[in-house]
Amino acid sequence: MNDSVQPHSLALLGIGRIGIMHARILAAHPLVERLVLADVDPQRAAQTAAELGCESALVEVVLDPDNPLSLDGLVIATGTDTHADLLITAATIGLPTYCEKPIALDLEQALAAQRALEEARLPHHIGFQRRFDAGYTRARQLLEAGELGELRRFHALTCDPQPPADRFIPGSGGVFLDCNVHDFDILRWVTGREVVEVYATGSARGSKAFAENNDFSDSVAILTCDDGTVGSVHSSRYNGQGYEVRLDLMGTQGSANVGLDNRVPFRSVEDGVEFPPEAPWDDFIARFLPCYERELDHFLRNTMVGLPSACTAGDAVEALKIALACNKSRDEHRPVRISEIL
Ligand SMILES: NC(=O)c1ccc[n+]([C@@H]2O[C@H](COP(=O)([O-])OP(=O)(O)OC[C@H]3O[C@@H](n4cnc5c(N)ncnc54)[C@H](O)[C@@H]3O)[C@@H](O)[C@H]2O)c1
Repeated sequence: MNDSVQPHSLALLGIGRIGIMHARILAAHPLVERLVLADVDPQRAAQTAAELGCESALVEVVLDPDNPLSLDGLVIATGTDTHADLLITAATIGLPTYCEKPIALDLEQALAAQRALEEARLPHHIGFQRRFDAGYTRARQLLEAGELGELRRFHALTCDPQPPADRFIPGSGGVFLDCNVHDFDILRWVTGREVVEVYATGSARGSKAFAENNDFSDSVAILTCDDGTVGSVHSSRYNGQGYEVRLDLMGTQGSANVGLDNRVPFRSVEDGVEFPPEAPWDDFIARFLPCYERELDHFLRNTMVGLPSACTAGDAVEALKIALACNKSRDEHRPVRISEIL
């Protein structure tokens, strides 16, 4: 924790589902002196700015290379198809940047953004909030301390209670890029292993938008890591009981789970077991709000002043490669090596 940081002047681009949440967190943060909201829909930015008592501006003004607003940081919460270009612009202006996941929709754009950030030596953070979750942090510590022995298998899942709006699906990159990329990132972070091969399958049920966009409503990916650890990563856009995120880790000396908390939307039907005791998680904001708060706090106190990033563009590129390998596996109905993703 860095306590000697001066308050910042920040702009937040993209006032949609997650942008509104980030705006609320930033507007209430003691290290944010000035917050400017911008969206390609200026009305949307102006309305949220009025609600939160902060400013709004046009996107072109925020991204003006002369920096007329004297900003010292940028938060990007726009649609995924804009992330790489906006990161390159931020590197050109020299604004330390927090950008939502995934870094881009394809590897070429992602590598271009990574190169621009590294060449400009720009402090940056890619938003993978699970790195700030107490459960995932404990799981990582257990593995590091050898308390599970040698990790042999895992099972991860991310399931939404209802699908996103149809309009969101075409630009999202599909479920592996949009949703399971969180599982891929956190698996690398918790286990310290690299994925070397995937086999992905699934089905497109419910909204026609899934089939029309070559996307899955429900999916399973089988992953193999560089040390032989194997596991599966599930997703669903129709997990009626609630928002569910889990990671099971099975080692030679013990097993551990992240996400089997009192609100997990998963009931036990065994005699004498009353689990879970509380109402299920509704959505990702309810489940992860404290993590988004910690992540933005880390950006303001550490990344923006040049301390090591908790999630670099390089990390985001590795998670993206696993998602892209899943897309290739889906399209070609075969196991795909990560080394094929070039
Ligand atoms: N970390 C997480 O858990 C998490 C959760 C949800 C979404 N996300 C990511 O956040 C991003 C946004 O998702 P969302 O669900 O909020 O989408 P959304 O469609 O609700 O909102 C995106 C907003 O960005 C605006 N916009 C688009 N292009 C812009 C540009 N060039 N400049 C300024 N504004 C622009 C749109 O008008 C819209 O208001 C996506 O990349 C998504 O993957 C991350």
